[in-house]
Amino acid sequence: MPGNNQRRFLMKDLKKSVLGAAAATFMFAAAPAVADDTVKVGLILPMTGASASTGRQIEAAARLYIAEHGSKVAGKTIELIIKDDAGVADQSKRLAQELVVNDKVSVLAGFGLTPLALAVGPIATQAKVPAIIMAAGTAMIVDTSPWFVRTSFTLPQNTIPMAEWAAKNGIKKVVTLVSDYGPGLDAEKWFKTKFEASGGQIIDQLRSPLANPDFAAFLQKAKDDKPDALFLFVPSGQGAVLMKQVVERGLVADGIKIIGTGDVTDDDLINGMGDAVVGMITSHNYSADHNSPENKAFVANFLKANGNARPNFMAVGGYDGMALVYKALEKTGGDATGAKLLDAMKGLSWVSPRGPISVDPETRDIVQNVYIRKVEKKDGALWNVEFDTLANVKDPSHTPK
Ligand code: DHB
Repeated sequence: MPGNNQRRFLMKDLKKSVLGAAAATFMFAAAPAVADDTVKVGLILPMTGASASTGRQIEAAARLYIAEHGSKVAGKTIELIIKDDAGVADQSKRLAQELVVNDKVSVLAGFGLTPLALAVGPIATQAKVPAIIMAAGTAMIVDTSPWFVRTSFTLPQNTIPMAEWAAKNGIKKVVTLVSDYGPGLDAEKWFKTKFEASGGQIIDQLRSPLANPDFAAFLQKAKDDKPDALFLFVPSGQGAVLMKQVVERGLVADGIKIIGTGDVTDDDLINGMGDAVVGMITSHNYSADHNSPENKAFVANFLKANGNARPNFMAVGGYDGMALVYKALEKTGGDATGAKLLDAMKGLSWVSPRGPISVDPETRDIVQNVYIRKVEKKDGALWNVEFDTLANVKDPSHTPK
C-alpha cells in the first residue's frame, strides 16, 4: 500500500496525465477532424431487407448527381456517408445519432419508409441538422420536425389526381386496397375524400399488413365486392407480387379496372409484371418515360452507371435531394451551418428529371407536377406513359401555420 504522500503524488500524477490526455484530445479535436472545406451528407437507407431496392435506387442516384456535378460546390467538397438501417426504425435513429455526433454531418438524408423517417426527426431537431426525406411519403412527416425537408412526394399529392380521373372516366364504385401504415392510410383517406366529392362511391376499404405481402384474401374480397375499379397502394418493391396476385385471382378477367398510385407500377419492377398490366392507369410524380431533355439525360446516365437498371421514383427523390444540398450551399456561399442551410432550402425551385419542382417555404414539402399515366409496351419493354399533367400540386393536408 503506498503511504499518504505517495498516494497524493500518484493522484497528482494521475490527474496530470488525465489532464494531459484531455489536453491532447482537445488539441486533436481543435484541429478539425474533417477539413473545414468538407460537407458531410449522411444517407440513412434500407440497403438490405424488404425495402433494399429503395436504398439501392437512392444511393445510385445520389452518386450519379455527384458524378455529373462534381464533388465540389461553393468551395466545399461533398462527402457522402451511406448507412444501412435494414428498414428498422431503431437502427435509423441510432445511425442518425452516430452520424451527427461522430461524423459531424451537416445534412441527414434518405429514410426509405415512413417509420424510419419519423424515428430520425427528433435527432434532427435536437442537433439542428436539416433532414431531407428522399423516399417516405406520409404527409405528416414534415410536420413532426422543423428540420425536415422533402424531395420525394406525398401520398395525398399523388392520390388525389387518380380519384379525380376515375370519377371523370365512368368509374362509379371503387374498392381500395392499401398497405396498412402511414402512406397507405393517407392514400385511402384522400382517394375516398376526392372520389366521393366527385360523385363516386367507395364500397369497401381493405388494408394488407406491410410486413407480409400476401394479398390473396384481400383480392378475393375485392373481387366478390364487384366494383368498377380496384384502387391500389403498396410501397416500392411490392408492386410485382401484388400485380401477379391480381392477375391470378382473375380480377382483370372479370373486367374490374385496376388503378392506383405509381408506386404499384414501379419502374424498377414493371418489366417483371407481364403484359397483364398493359393499359393500367396510375397517377404519380415520376415516370422514367417522362419526356424532357433533363429526364432523357438522367435516365441515360443512370442506365449507363448501373448496368442498365432503370431509375424509379425513389431514384429521382435521391437525385433531387442531392440537388437541394448543392443549391442550398450555393445560396449560402458554402456555409453549412444547420439553420442557414435549412433557410436556403426553403423556397428553392428547379427543373428536375420529373419536371419543375419547388420546396414550399411554409411547409418544407415538395410542390411538383402529378401525371396520369398508362402502362404501354414500347420496343418490347413496359413503360408508364404520361398522358395528362396536373401542374404544381401541393400536399393538401398540412395545417396552415
Ligand atoms: C413509402 C414507402 C414507399 O416505398 C412508397 O412507395 C411510398 C411511401 C413510405 O413508407 O412512406
